[in-house]
Amino acid sequence: MLNRLKELQIEAINEISNTTDLKELNDLRVKYLGKKGPIQEVMKNMKDMQPEERKSAGAVSNEVKNAISAAIETKKEELEALAIQQKLANETIDVTLPGRTVNIGVTHPLQAVTNELESLFISMGYTVEEGPEVEWDHYNFELLNLPKGHPARDMQDSFYITEESLLRTHTSPVQARVLEAAKGKGPIKIICPGKVYRRDDDDATHSHQFTQIEGLVVDTDVTMADLKGTLLELARQMFGQDREIRLRPSFFPFTEPSVEVDVTCSKCGGCGCNICKGTGWIEILGAGMVHPNVLEMSGFDSKVYQGFAFGIGAERIAMLKYGIEDIRNFYTNDLRFINQFK
Ligand code: PHE
Repeated sequence: MLNRLKELQIEAINEISNTTDLKELNDLRVKYLGKKGPIQEVMKNMKDMQPEERKSAGAVSNEVKNAISAAIETKKEELEALAIQQKLANETIDVTLPGRTVNIGVTHPLQAVTNELESLFISMGYTVEEGPEVEWDHYNFELLNLPKGHPARDMQDSFYITEESLLRTHTSPVQARVLEAAKGKGPIKIICPGKVYRRDDDDATHSHQFTQIEGLVVDTDVTMADLKGTLLELARQMFGQDREIRLRPSFFPFTEPSVEVDVTCSKCGGCGCNICKGTGWIEILGAGMVHPNVLEMSGFDSKVYQGFAFGIGAERIAMLKYGIEDIRNFYTNDLRFINQFK
């Protein structure tokens, strides 16, 4: 009987050492050490033994069971370690493989112009304001010295929504809003970029939606020389440090005096070419000293405060700066156009 137990031990250990998977190993545990296993079977004969014999048989059977258990444990650890090794090998990542290309967008030229002007004006102490695109007639016209029926309203053909609201025709209503919010107290130094809308037939130089950047400065000692200096700085920033500007008299109901501002042509430097139509000058924006009526209507004392304002057409600046010939390119979202600004 003792021999049979020893045989079983050798047989079991042999089988265990030949296993290559954990499931099989577990089956072997059940097979040899389970209640219906061969060792239990042999031990059934114990009841017929002499006490002495029974004692040594018990001891041997325990030794055999322990040896088999130990072999199983060792094998188990071995197989588990192997499984981890294999898993790691399968999941290896080749960090030298080339990556997938990610398409990175480009800044739209209008946004680029806006960004550039924002940083210029922020560096001069301005803050950036915003206003609604659906605006009250009150701010878009009335508070800008354009009462109902004023002939100059025809300069800006409008998309009305109701009798009293419309898509703003310019960013100037933000002037009125900022003045009103300041409750008669300066100083004010703001710019406001944004979309504006006018009823126009779209062609190479007209678009029913376009972009303006408004500027407004109000304080107790502001002169036209300040306006001119600011605009010169603007022109040089956008078109080059050797540019000059000139102011031509013009008319806007909300500024007095009003001017139109030209910059020396950056293509020919002022000698005359096809871009400046032979004049050497290119018009870039409208501006002027804030009309006393505008100040008064928004609660400012026009004897104490003066100001200047300007309205830049962002498309115009971008077209000149980048040589874009058709304003519709800004709005048709053709990637071949936009990707040129990488
Ligand atoms: N709002 C004017 C326009 O759209 C431009 C402008 C702004 C003129 C500020 C003077 C002062 O034509």
